[in-house]
Parts: sequence; C-alpha cells; structure tokens
Amino acid sequence: MNKYTIKTVITTAYSPDDEGVFIAADAIKRGKLAVIPTETVYGLAANALDEKAVENIFIAKGRPQDNPLIVHISDMEMLNSVAAEIPESASALAKRFWPGPLTMIFRKKDVVPFRVTAGLETVAVRFPENEIARAVIRAAGVPVAAPSANISGRPSITCAKYCKDELGGKVDVILESFDCKFGVESTVITFIENGVKILRPGAVSPELLRQVVDNVEIDPAVLSEIKPDQKVSSPGMKYKHYAPKAEITILDCTREKYIEFINASQERFALCFDEDIPEIANGRAVSYGSCSQPLSMAHNLFDALRELDARGAKQVFARKPPIEGIGLAVYNRLLRAAAFREISF
Ligand code: TXA
Ligand code: MG
Repeated sequence: MNKYTIKTVITTAYSPDDEGVFIAADAIKRGKLAVIPTETVYGLAANALDEKAVENIFIAKGRPQDNPLIVHISDMEMLNSVAAEIPESASALAKRFWPGPLTMIFRKKDVVPFRVTAGLETVAVRFPENEIARAVIRAAGVPVAAPSANISGRPSITCAKYCKDELGGKVDVILESFDCKFGVESTVITFIENGVKILRPGAVSPELLRQVVDNVEIDPAVLSEIKPDQKVSSPGMKYKHYAPKAEITILDCTREKYIEFINASQERFALCFDEDIPEIANGRAVSYGSCSQPLSMAHNLFDALRELDARGAKQVFARKPPIEGIGLAVYNRLLRAAAFREISF
C-alpha cells in the first residue's frame, strides 16, 4: 500500500444504524483500514485475522514492528475465537467491566497472526463500550485490530476533527462520531499467579479492579522511565508517546507558586486547570480539565496537547494531576508527553 495515494472516504455515524457504520465495516471486511470511534480514543481498525491488512496498520501509523495491537471484539464468542485460555479472574473482570475500557492479555489461538501480536504468544483483547465501535465490529463479522488512530509517538485522538489531518490519505475510511467519552486509552492488564498486573492505567482504575480481584499490582514502568536495556512487560512501554511539538515539564508545587512561575515569563505556556485560566496572562494557558474532576482531565488531555501545538507553544509547564482513580492514567500519559521531566518546588 502506498501511504500517499489512498483516497480516504470520510463518513459519519452517531447511532449504530447509521450508514457510516456499514461503510467502515465493509472496508474492514475487504481488508482495508478504517478509523473508528471508541469510548477511549479513536482507533485505526483492520481485520485482525488478515495479515496484510494488519501490516498496513503498521505502515499507516509508522508504528514500530515489535509493538503489538489490541484485538477488539463485539461479543464473548469472539473472545473464545482468539483466546486460548481464559483465567477465572478474567471471566469475573469481563462480567464487571466489559463492554468497557479494559484490555486483558490472554494466550493466543493460532488464528491470530503473529503480525498482530508482534511475535508474542499472547493477544490483548478489548470489548469496547462505544456502540458505534461495537456495531462496526459486529457488521464486519471479524475481530478487529486497532491501535490508537495517531501517527506513532503523537498524542492519541479523541475528537473527529483531528482524524482527517492525522490520517487522511493514509486510510480508506474515516468514521467521524462523537468525542470519545473517556479520552485516555484502555487499562491494559495481564494475569499473574495470584491476580493481575496493570501494564497501562486507564479508566478502569486500580481501585476498581481491586473490587473484583484481590491482588492488583502496578508495573513499575507505569510511573518511571524505562532504561535502555531494561526488560519490559509490554512493548509499548519502550516507545516515546503522546509527544506534542512543545517541550513539556510537569510542576509539582502549590497553585500559587505555579501561577507565579508561569506569569514570570512570556515564553512559558501553561497546561493547567480550568480554575487557573483567569490568572494567567495573554492566552498562554490551555486547560486540561477542572482540578476537582479527574475524569475531565482524562477527557481533555490529548486535545489540550494538540491545542498547545496549534498555539505555537515551545515551553509548556503542566500542573500535576491527582493520581487516584483515573488520575493515575492521566499522570501516566502526561509523564510520557513530558518525557518524564518533573520539577518539585
Ligand atoms: O483504548 C485503547 O486501548 C485504544 C482503542 C483504539 O481501543 N487502543 C490503543 O491501542 O490504545 P495502542 O496500540 O495504542 O496501545 C496498545 C498497547 C501498547 O502499549 C501495546 O504494547 C500493548 O497494548 N499490548 C498489545 N498487545 C500486547 C501483548 N500481547 N502483551 C503486552 N502488551 C500488549
Ligand atoms: Mg497508542
């Protein structure tokens, strides 16, 4: 596939019966690429059982070959078709959190190409909650491989308007829909001897998982930088992520000190909370949510990163989010966007 010569069909769906659902599903069925909405972020979808189509996902995104994809399903039968073994705790978690923003890693069945799992014997599976996503998968009739619909290394996309800029000309169909409900990617977990380990935090927080499974560990790579030769539990942990063009630094300090620091130089842009905006001069403030609502931070973070680029920000200083609940996912993404630069004062 030549990534510069594809004619991209842009269509819409705001309910599962809308024509756009069937245009996207038909493209997937025919081995093509379709950008589709989910409740987390937009996904770049293809038939997970079609090696050639999956290979084209890697080309369109510029994704490293060794970073595996998540397989999306629209019912539990599809889980049985791709996963070789389903631990008891997985069934309990599926009962509570599926459909929803939780990805579980299983031993894979032979039908799942190694192209999807980047050579691993395991497959990551997610049953999305978004009804448009589910309708597309159902109509395609196959499990759907879908990484986030951004060029590798860039912030994920949570609203339709950015899909065309990012992937127009590189995919066959873009299915525009509502903004994504959560705005951060799914929680990724793997099963360990006596519980689960979080490889990537998301809206299904450690606190929520603990309501179902006794032992919930958080992989150290969630909040700390990987050393060049360190072994990782998930290939995605190694890569640069969510990087806007600006250099971001997280500031761990009081609100007063933060505002004083930003206002001390015209060059400093703020990635702050709604409540801070009136105190920062000259349109140099972009908010990523309300300080009392971590869900709003998740919802807005990636858009805010893209907005900072649009404003030409070079130096950005972010307020540190709280790290409980979905806040852990927000902080995990922000740390990566900031290449782990954080200053406390
Ligand atoms: O919310 C989401 O999960 C979105 C939407 C589109 O569903 N998808 C998404 O995919 O975020 P992606 O490709 O951007 O991130 C998938 C992550 C990567 O970090 C990858 O390394 C990890 O999941 N992963 C996939 N398969 C894995 C496996 N078998 N073992 C360990 N990690 C795996
Ligand atoms: Mg991604």
